[in-house]
Amino acid sequence: MEITIIHGQQHRGSTYHIAEVLKNQLVDADTVVNEYFLPKDGPDFCVGCFGCITKGEVHCPHANQVQPIVAAMSRAQVLIFDSPTYCFEMTGQLKTLFDHLGYLWLSHRPRAEMFNKIGIVVSTAAGAGTGVVTKSMARQLSWWGVAKVYRLRCNVSAMSWQDVAAGIKQKTEQQTAAVARQVRDRVGRVRPGLKTRFLFAIMRKMHTNNTWNRIDKEYWHEKNWVAQARPWRT
Ligand SMILES: Cc1cc2nc3c(=O)[nH]c(=O)nc-3n(C[C@H](O)[C@H](O)[C@H](O)COP(=O)(O)O)c2cc1C
Repeated sequence: MEITIIHGQQHRGSTYHIAEVLKNQLVDADTVVNEYFLPKDGPDFCVGCFGCITKGEVHCPHANQVQPIVAAMSRAQVLIFDSPTYCFEMTGQLKTLFDHLGYLWLSHRPRAEMFNKIGIVVSTAAGAGTGVVTKSMARQLSWWGVAKVYRLRCNVSAMSWQDVAAGIKQKTEQQTAAVARQVRDRVGRVRPGLKTRFLFAIMRKMHTNNTWNRIDKEYWHEKNWVAQARPWRT
Protein backbone atom coordinates (compact mmCIF):
# COMPACT_ATOMS: atom_id res chain seq x y z
CA MET A 1 0.00 0.00 0.00
CA GLU A 2 1.11 3.57 -0.67
CA ILE A 3 -0.11 6.53 1.38
CA THR A 4 0.32 10.21 0.56
CA ILE A 5 -0.05 12.65 3.43
CA ILE A 6 -0.38 16.38 2.88
CA HIS A 7 0.04 18.36 6.07
CA GLY A 8 -1.72 21.73 5.85
CA GLN A 9 0.89 23.15 8.22
CA GLN A 10 4.61 22.82 8.80
CA HIS A 11 4.73 22.65 12.57
CA ARG A 12 4.23 19.42 14.49
CA GLY A 13 1.30 20.28 16.73
CA SER A 14 -1.94 18.48 17.59
CA THR A 15 -3.05 18.11 13.99
CA TYR A 16 0.25 16.60 12.87
CA HIS A 17 0.33 14.23 15.85
CA ILE A 18 -3.18 12.94 15.21
CA ALA A 19 -2.31 12.33 11.54
CA GLU A 20 0.84 10.59 12.76
CA VAL A 21 -1.15 8.30 15.06
CA LEU A 22 -3.43 7.47 12.15
CA LYS A 23 -0.45 6.81 9.86
CA ASN A 24 1.10 4.43 12.37
CA GLN A 25 -2.18 2.55 12.68
CA LEU A 26 -2.37 2.18 8.89
CA VAL A 27 1.13 1.21 7.86
CA ASP A 28 2.77 -2.17 7.74
CA ALA A 29 6.29 -3.17 6.69
CA ASP A 30 5.44 -2.84 2.99
CA THR A 31 3.75 0.56 3.13
CA VAL A 32 5.32 3.44 1.23
CA VAL A 33 4.56 6.84 2.75
CA ASN A 34 4.97 10.19 0.97
CA GLU A 35 4.68 13.25 3.22
CA TYR A 36 4.44 16.92 2.26
CA PHE A 37 4.41 19.89 4.61
CA LEU A 38 2.78 23.13 3.51
CA PRO A 39 3.76 25.76 2.60
CA LYS A 40 7.37 24.44 2.47
CA ASP A 41 6.64 21.68 -0.07
CA GLY A 42 3.77 23.36 -1.88
CA PRO A 43 3.15 25.98 -4.54
CA ASP A 44 2.93 29.74 -4.19
CA PHE A 45 -0.56 31.30 -4.46
CA CYS A 46 -2.57 30.53 -7.59
CA VAL A 47 -2.19 33.50 -9.96
CA GLY A 48 -5.49 32.84 -11.74
CA CYS A 49 -3.94 32.43 -15.21
CA PHE A 50 -6.30 29.51 -16.12
CA GLY A 51 -3.26 27.80 -17.72
CA CYS A 52 -3.97 24.45 -16.01
CA ILE A 53 -7.59 24.51 -17.06
CA THR A 54 -7.36 25.74 -20.65
CA LYS A 55 -3.85 24.74 -21.77
CA GLY A 56 -2.84 21.85 -19.49
CA GLU A 57 -1.44 21.43 -15.99
CA VAL A 58 2.18 21.69 -17.18
CA HIS A 59 1.47 25.33 -18.08
CA CYS A 60 0.88 26.28 -14.44
CA PRO A 61 3.71 28.61 -13.37
CA HIS A 62 3.99 26.44 -10.23
CA ALA A 63 3.90 23.08 -12.03
CA ASN A 64 7.32 22.13 -10.62
CA GLN A 65 5.90 22.21 -7.09
CA VAL A 66 2.40 20.91 -7.91
CA GLN A 67 3.10 17.98 -10.24
CA PRO A 68 5.32 15.93 -7.88
CA ILE A 69 2.50 16.12 -5.32
CA VAL A 70 -0.08 15.06 -7.93
CA ALA A 71 2.18 12.15 -8.92
CA ALA A 72 2.44 11.03 -5.29
CA MET A 73 -1.33 11.32 -4.92
CA SER A 74 -1.88 9.30 -8.07
CA ARG A 75 0.36 6.45 -6.91
CA ALA A 76 -1.21 6.19 -3.45
CA GLN A 77 -4.29 4.17 -2.56
CA VAL A 78 -4.88 6.32 0.53
CA LEU A 79 -4.72 10.12 0.71
CA ILE A 80 -4.55 11.94 4.04
CA PHE A 81 -4.99 15.70 4.33
CA ASP A 82 -4.75 17.46 7.67
CA SER A 83 -5.21 21.03 8.80
CA PRO A 84 -5.72 22.88 12.06
CA THR A 85 -8.92 24.94 12.15
CA TYR A 86 -8.11 28.60 11.62
CA CYS A 87 -11.09 30.95 12.03
CA PHE A 88 -13.46 28.15 10.96
CA GLU A 89 -11.45 27.45 7.79
CA MET A 90 -8.59 25.20 6.67
CA THR A 91 -5.15 26.82 6.59
CA GLY A 92 -4.46 29.22 3.73
CA GLN A 93 -1.56 27.11 2.50
CA LEU A 94 -3.73 24.01 2.14
CA LYS A 95 -6.39 25.99 0.30
CA THR A 96 -3.63 27.27 -1.99
CA LEU A 97 -2.71 23.70 -2.91
CA PHE A 98 -6.38 22.81 -3.48
CA ASP A 99 -6.72 25.85 -5.80
CA HIS A 100 -3.93 24.43 -7.94
CA LEU A 101 -5.83 21.15 -8.21
CA GLY A 102 -9.03 22.64 -9.60
CA TYR A 103 -8.17 21.20 -13.00
CA LEU A 104 -8.61 17.72 -11.46
CA TRP A 105 -12.26 18.41 -10.66
CA LEU A 106 -14.94 16.29 -12.34
CA SER A 107 -15.90 19.38 -14.31
CA HIS A 108 -12.45 19.35 -15.99
CA ARG A 109 -9.96 16.46 -16.11
CA PRO A 110 -10.35 14.07 -13.15
CA ARG A 111 -7.78 11.28 -13.02
CA ALA A 112 -9.18 7.78 -13.45
CA GLU A 113 -7.25 6.39 -10.48
CA MET A 114 -8.94 8.81 -8.05
CA PHE A 115 -12.20 6.88 -8.38
CA ASN A 116 -10.71 3.91 -6.51
CA LYS A 117 -8.98 5.78 -3.70
CA ILE A 118 -9.78 6.38 -0.06
CA GLY A 119 -9.30 9.85 1.41
CA ILE A 120 -9.08 10.83 5.07
CA VAL A 121 -9.34 14.47 6.13
CA VAL A 122 -8.31 15.51 9.62
CA SER A 123 -8.80 18.75 11.51
CA THR A 124 -8.30 19.87 15.07
CA ALA A 125 -9.66 22.97 16.79
CA ALA A 126 -9.54 24.34 20.28
CA GLY A 127 -13.31 24.15 20.58
CA ALA A 128 -15.28 24.61 17.36
CA GLY A 129 -15.08 24.63 13.58
CA THR A 130 -13.74 21.18 12.63
CA GLY A 131 -17.13 20.28 11.13
CA VAL A 132 -17.00 23.02 8.50
CA VAL A 133 -13.28 22.53 7.91
CA THR A 134 -13.43 18.77 7.32
CA LYS A 135 -16.53 19.21 5.17
CA SER A 136 -14.70 21.74 3.03
CA MET A 137 -11.58 19.55 2.73
CA ALA A 138 -13.69 16.48 1.91
CA ARG A 139 -15.52 18.44 -0.79
CA GLN A 140 -12.24 18.94 -2.68
CA LEU A 141 -11.46 15.21 -2.70
CA SER A 142 -15.01 14.31 -3.70
CA TRP A 143 -14.81 16.64 -6.69
CA TRP A 144 -11.64 14.83 -7.84
CA GLY A 145 -13.73 11.64 -7.79
CA VAL A 146 -12.15 10.08 -4.65
CA ALA A 147 -14.43 7.14 -3.92
CA LYS A 148 -14.69 7.31 -0.14
CA VAL A 149 -13.69 10.14 2.21
CA TYR A 150 -13.51 9.72 5.99
CA ARG A 151 -13.57 12.79 8.23
CA LEU A 152 -11.71 12.91 11.54
CA ARG A 153 -12.46 15.83 13.84
CA CYS A 154 -11.00 16.60 17.21
CA ASN A 155 -11.58 19.46 19.63
CA VAL A 156 -8.39 19.43 21.66
CA SER A 157 -9.10 22.35 24.04
CA ALA A 158 -5.46 23.32 23.70
CA MET A 159 -2.95 25.40 21.79
CA SER A 160 -0.28 22.68 21.70
CA TRP A 161 -0.10 18.87 21.66
CA GLN A 162 1.70 18.80 25.03
CA ASP A 163 -1.31 20.53 26.61
CA VAL A 164 -3.90 18.11 25.22
CA ALA A 165 -5.44 16.11 28.08
CA ALA A 166 -4.64 12.39 28.23
CA GLY A 167 -8.36 11.54 27.96
CA ILE A 168 -8.71 13.49 24.71
CA LYS A 169 -5.60 11.83 23.28
CA GLN A 170 -6.98 8.42 24.19
CA LYS A 171 -10.38 9.13 22.65
CA THR A 172 -8.73 10.43 19.48
CA GLU A 173 -6.59 7.33 19.24
CA GLN A 174 -9.74 5.21 19.40
CA GLN A 175 -11.34 7.29 16.65
CA THR A 176 -8.31 7.03 14.37
CA ALA A 177 -8.05 3.29 15.07
CA ALA A 178 -11.67 2.79 13.99
CA VAL A 179 -11.04 4.65 10.73
CA ALA A 180 -7.73 2.83 10.15
CA ARG A 181 -9.52 -0.53 10.54
CA GLN A 182 -12.14 0.42 7.95
CA VAL A 183 -9.53 1.77 5.56
CA ARG A 184 -7.42 -1.38 5.79
CA ASP A 185 -10.52 -3.50 5.12
CA ARG A 186 -11.59 -1.47 2.11
CA VAL A 187 -8.35 -0.39 0.46
CA GLY A 188 -8.28 -1.22 -3.24
CA ARG A 189 -11.95 -2.25 -3.16
CA VAL A 190 -13.80 1.08 -2.94
CA ARG A 191 -16.03 2.41 -5.69
CA PRO A 192 -17.67 5.85 -5.85
CA GLY A 193 -21.17 6.30 -4.51
CA LEU A 194 -24.30 7.59 -6.20
CA LYS A 195 -23.46 11.27 -5.79
CA THR A 196 -20.16 10.98 -7.67
CA ARG A 197 -21.73 8.81 -10.35
CA PHE A 198 -24.53 11.34 -10.76
CA LEU A 199 -22.07 14.26 -11.07
CA PHE A 200 -20.01 12.19 -13.51
CA ALA A 201 -23.13 11.66 -15.66
CA ILE A 202 -23.80 15.40 -15.75
CA MET A 203 -20.17 16.21 -16.63
CA ARG A 204 -20.16 13.49 -19.27
CA LYS A 205 -23.16 15.11 -20.95
CA MET A 206 -21.50 18.51 -20.67
CA HIS A 207 -18.24 17.32 -22.24
CA THR A 208 -19.91 15.48 -25.10
CA ASN A 209 -20.44 18.79 -26.87
CA ASN A 210 -18.23 21.09 -24.82
CA THR A 211 -17.45 24.18 -26.94
CA TRP A 212 -15.61 26.26 -24.31
CA ASN A 213 -12.67 24.05 -23.29
CA ARG A 214 -11.08 21.99 -26.04
CA ILE A 215 -8.60 20.09 -23.84
CA ASP A 216 -11.26 19.03 -21.33
CA LYS A 217 -13.45 17.79 -24.17
CA GLU A 218 -10.60 15.89 -25.83
CA TYR A 219 -9.66 14.34 -22.48
CA TRP A 220 -13.19 12.97 -21.91
CA HIS A 221 -13.37 11.71 -25.50
CA GLU A 222 -9.92 10.08 -25.35
CA LYS A 223 -10.87 8.23 -22.18
CA ASN A 224 -14.10 7.12 -23.83
CA TRP A 225 -15.99 8.47 -20.82
CA VAL A 226 -18.48 10.16 -23.16
CA ALA A 227 -19.21 6.63 -24.44
CA GLN A 228 -19.33 3.49 -22.29
CA ALA A 229 -16.06 3.60 -20.30
CA ARG A 230 -16.15 4.55 -16.62
CA PRO A 231 -13.05 5.36 -14.53
CA TRP A 232 -14.10 3.23 -11.55
CA ARG A 233 -14.36 0.09 -13.71
CA THR A 234 -10.72 -0.93 -13.86
C1 LIG B 1 -5.04 31.73 13.59
C2 LIG B 1 -5.76 30.74 14.43
C3 LIG B 1 -7.13 30.60 14.30
C4 LIG B 1 -7.82 29.67 15.07
N1 LIG B 1 -9.16 29.53 14.89
C5 LIG B 1 -9.84 28.63 15.65
C6 LIG B 1 -11.24 28.44 15.47
O1 LIG B 1 -11.87 29.00 14.59
N2 LIG B 1 -11.86 27.57 16.29
C7 LIG B 1 -11.21 26.91 17.29
O2 LIG B 1 -11.82 26.18 18.03
N3 LIG B 1 -9.86 27.02 17.45
C8 LIG B 1 -9.16 27.87 16.64
N4 LIG B 1 -7.81 27.96 16.78
C9 LIG B 1 -7.10 27.03 17.66
C10 LIG B 1 -6.53 25.83 16.88
O3 LIG B 1 -7.43 25.40 15.88
C11 LIG B 1 -6.26 24.65 17.76
O4 LIG B 1 -5.44 25.01 18.84
C12 LIG B 1 -5.62 23.52 16.95
O5 LIG B 1 -5.66 22.33 17.68
C13 LIG B 1 -4.17 23.85 16.61
O6 LIG B 1 -3.62 22.77 15.89
P1 LIG B 1 -2.04 22.56 15.80
O7 LIG B 1 -1.54 22.24 17.20
O8 LIG B 1 -1.86 21.47 14.84
O9 LIG B 1 -1.49 23.87 15.32
C14 LIG B 1 -7.11 28.87 16.01
C15 LIG B 1 -5.72 29.02 16.13
C16 LIG B 1 -5.04 29.92 15.33
C17 LIG B 1 -3.55 30.02 15.45
